[in-house]
Amino acid sequence: MSVEMSKPVPRPGILDIAAYVPGKEHAPGVARVYKLSSNETPLGASPKAIEAFKAAAGNLERYPDGQALELREAIASVHGLNPANILCGNGSDELLGLLCHVYLGAGDEGIITEHGFLVYKIQIMGAGATPVMVKEKDHTVDVDAILAAVTDKTKVVFIANPGNPTGTYIPVSEIRRLQAGLPKHVILVLDAAYAEYVRRNDYEAGIEVVSSNANVVMTRTFSKVYGLAALRVGWMYAPAEIIDALNRVRGPFNMNAPAIAAGAAAIRDQSFVQEAVSFNQMWIEKLTSAFEAIGLKVTPSVANFVLIHFPDIDGKRAAEADEFLTSRGYILRAVRGYGFPNSLRMSIGPEEANLGVIEALGEFMGRKA
Ligand SMILES: Cc1ncc(COP(=O)(O)O)c(C=O)c1O
Repeated sequence: MSVEMSKPVPRPGILDIAAYVPGKEHAPGVARVYKLSSNETPLGASPKAIEAFKAAAGNLERYPDGQALELREAIASVHGLNPANILCGNGSDELLGLLCHVYLGAGDEGIITEHGFLVYKIQIMGAGATPVMVKEKDHTVDVDAILAAVTDKTKVVFIANPGNPTGTYIPVSEIRRLQAGLPKHVILVLDAAYAEYVRRNDYEAGIEVVSSNANVVMTRTFSKVYGLAALRVGWMYAPAEIIDALNRVRGPFNMNAPAIAAGAAAIRDQSFVQEAVSFNQMWIEKLTSAFEAIGLKVTPSVANFVLIHFPDIDGKRAAEADEFLTSRGYILRAVRGYGFPNSLRMSIGPEEANLGVIEALGEFMGRKA
């Protein structure tokens, strides 16, 4: 007989979870606010996606296609994949959670890295398992540190490639080395939320590694370069057995119909993506050199944001910079929770916001930008 309690009590460990805190949105009293705190695109969504979204408004009384076939086929055709190996989710966040709930339980361990995306830890703990955090090297995932942390209890390894909030990446040769060093039953999750932005010859999001191994999955999102964060569209490319397991427990209609339609239209519009990537590349370079010129350190980024490190000097620290920028309408992301107490992450914004932050930080540092 179970012990009676005076009120409903969550499973052990749930109340130890620190809930995810999204990027700030408001700057009280400031007329023009630029939100540069959630790595959203400044360029919006493809007009074709918006059109598809509006068209879906005519059929809101109907359930969506529970298989999200139109979207899976569009993704498959753009990336050259088999739609049977694709699972769509309400944002990639949902897929990360599903993986944990299906493959982790009490007594299991999930490996995450020092500056890794906070959702991994939340979902590992939500499944009743234990997160094991390993060090990064120069703000970059360290394959040897991950392999050294594997135990009999390890079931899943999460890496974001590129990382958030670091913006760094590891080459595909390192991903292969990591896969080769893991036991065959351990799932390697390659979270490639920012893959579209990367312009490096030695980078691969993970398609080839997933295709040739039974224990690797890749997650992707429409929230960044495709500009559909509001609709919550993510997808996973994975071996059939993993897709099958997740399909058994996901919500039967986890993707809503406007999201399916807009996502499919968005991914078919690759010229829109190319423009967004070029815009991003230009500003990553400009912002990095402008911030370095005023005495700030910037972690080299291949994504759509930069991690800016402040000096350990009274009046010049990240918290003070955050306040200064917010008072001028520029909202960046404090990254204390990611192990960077004296840094801010800035998403690439529209031109006027990028120029505004350069000028404001120049003033903050007492240096002409
Ligand atoms: C590394 C990483 N993974 C996943 C996500 C979540 O993406 P989605 O909006 O698809 O849930 C983000 C969003 O910030 C991210 O930075």
